Amino acid sequence: MSDTTPFEPMSNGEVYQPSSAFIAKANVPDWESKTIQAEQDLQGFWSERALELEWYQPWNKVLDDSNKPFYKWFTGGKVNIVHNCLDRYVKTWRRNKLALIWEGEPGDQRSFSYHALNREVCKFASVIKAMGITKGDRVTIYLPRIPEIIIAMLACAKIGAIHSVVYGGFSVESLHGRILDSHSKIAITADGGWMNGKIVKLKDMMDEALRRSPSVEHVIVIKRTGQDVMMEPERDLWYHDLMSLPIASPKCETEVMDAEDPLYILYTSGTTGKPKAVLHTHGGYMVGIYATLKDVFDLKDEDRWWCTADPGWVTGHSYLVYGPLLNGATSFLYEGAPTFPYPNRWWLMIEKYALTILYTAPTAVRGLMRFGEAWPNRHDLSSLRLLGSVGEPINPEAWKWYHRVIGKGNCPIMDTWWQTETGMFIITPTPVMALKPGSATRPYLGVAAEIVDADGQVVPDGEEGFLVLSKPWPAMIRTIYGDPDRYVNQYWSTYPDKYMTGDSARRDKDGYFWIIGRVDDVIKVSGYRLGSAEIESALVSHPAVAEAAAIGLPHEVKGNSIHTYVILRTGFDPSDSLKDEIRNHIGHEIGPIAKPESITFVDNLPKTRSGKIMRRLLKARAQGLPDGDITTLED
Ligand code: PRX
Repeated sequence: MSDTTPFEPMSNGEVYQPSSAFIAKANVPDWESKTIQAEQDLQGFWSERALELEWYQPWNKVLDDSNKPFYKWFTGGKVNIVHNCLDRYVKTWRRNKLALIWEGEPGDQRSFSYHALNREVCKFASVIKAMGITKGDRVTIYLPRIPEIIIAMLACAKIGAIHSVVYGGFSVESLHGRILDSHSKIAITADGGWMNGKIVKLKDMMDEALRRSPSVEHVIVIKRTGQDVMMEPERDLWYHDLMSLPIASPKCETEVMDAEDPLYILYTSGTTGKPKAVLHTHGGYMVGIYATLKDVFDLKDEDRWWCTADPGWVTGHSYLVYGPLLNGATSFLYEGAPTFPYPNRWWLMIEKYALTILYTAPTAVRGLMRFGEAWPNRHDLSSLRLLGSVGEPINPEAWKWYHRVIGKGNCPIMDTWWQTETGMFIITPTPVMALKPGSATRPYLGVAAEIVDADGQVVPDGEEGFLVLSKPWPAMIRTIYGDPDRYVNQYWSTYPDKYMTGDSARRDKDGYFWIIGRVDDVIKVSGYRLGSAEIESALVSHPAVAEAAAIGLPHEVKGNSIHTYVILRTGFDPSDSLKDEIRNHIGHEIGPIAKPESITFVDNLPKTRSGKIMRRLLKARAQGLPDGDITTLED
């Protein structure tokens, strides 16, 4: 079935037990009894968790499944996620606790207490409100990893606007497509951001994207790098100017929202066509990410949490911005590259800020592993007590290195499986659970994960099948913004009432899940999610390209890398310079992360009789594997 994982995810019998010292200090709920409780009374379980947070008005119904698959959670409830992230904390001692510690790539530092962060959020919320942004308006945020990205997201949510964060590594066409699709009224960007010692010119890309995006009335620009940028009169405004005006009032009411009101949209790559906007809400999403982060990472007041993800991806939304604040935690944010100026940058910052939990992606672990143990060993990493992994399967070799070299054998690794669409952890260990390197362990409380065959029948343990979720969960995707049919078709049309994840997996005899990889045409490159169709459409938009196919193949560090096959138009000859040109074109159309590892010029592509490219066959042949079923192959 799936063949994109560079290792065979399966138990080799190795088990890591938590230490008794760790168990003694952990506040994790009793998993066995909670699992049974949540299984028997899903709504009761989630209602209990929701009551740990503050609501302006309680809900009438925990789960409304009267219009499946458009599930609703906490209907009738009034809430605002920002109330639970900030408002309730600034009334307590926590106002003086650090909410955010930040370091820029050049080494500059800033930190914000809950009080200070709230003040900035209120001021910026007042500004955008004064500019005419109201409940339900969309705002595109295109920023580097600087505190203002968090401030901007929270300011939008506070006044009920829907944020659409576009990852700063995406380039012009991706940004343009997302602005156009969301009809954003304002866009927020920076003059630039630091990455690998160079300036990423975000404002220039925004200018280019806006040439064809008529919905955007204003661009708010944060001065980060200080080089000259074009400021279009009337349209473009400096953030620091706005924040020093009387309109930037530090008093700003938090909008009372329905639990089901949208909080944000986030574009993610799917099987076909353009990236789609996954919609999350204020109520259920809030409850889901609050509870999962609390239970899985056993967050304590003395913790310093570092989620290395960019806020432009779901991991950043759920577990860098909202989840830690909902839990009253202190987060760390770093702007730049892990290897700048040297490969010890992350380890140095863990030592310098005494960070206690590191949550990152396997690709980063593998990348840093390449530089050898001497780099981390130069630093005191003893503040760490827990580690996490997300985004792709972690190979046992990387798991063990992470555990031994970074965690010094004392830090359990939380391998959390989830998706943009699930909003929250779905299959995940807790720190007091026995761990098997390479397994994301077991479903979270109340989650019904099954592995099924093509007919929807549960497969026997040990066999590979499609991973589906057969009960709803509060942080689940509500719809695809602007395209509800696609929501139904994409996730709910394969099996009745079962959410199709797009992943394949196995379950072992202990009930542990081993994720194998995507079974569709989504490619995970360094944990980033890209679609074959998206890359192919970028390829064919180059004047020399007539037809193209893109596949993912195993890669030691990136997990998967992109390989492309291109048929040239008549009049164009294959050459290395044309390859470079096409690679750069993809960089411009999507972003540097989508630049292919290889471009092969071919005369034809394997297609089905109905004209669909058989990517599966390309993949098999590239890896020297058998062709498999080729009965539908065109001659
Ligand atoms: O294939 C799975 C992989 O990432 C996909 C979801 O990607 P995205 O929506 O970008 O969200 C990534 C961060 C939550 C999944 O379908 N994936 C995510 N976490 C894991 C994983 N694969 C294996 N193990 C994981 N822990």
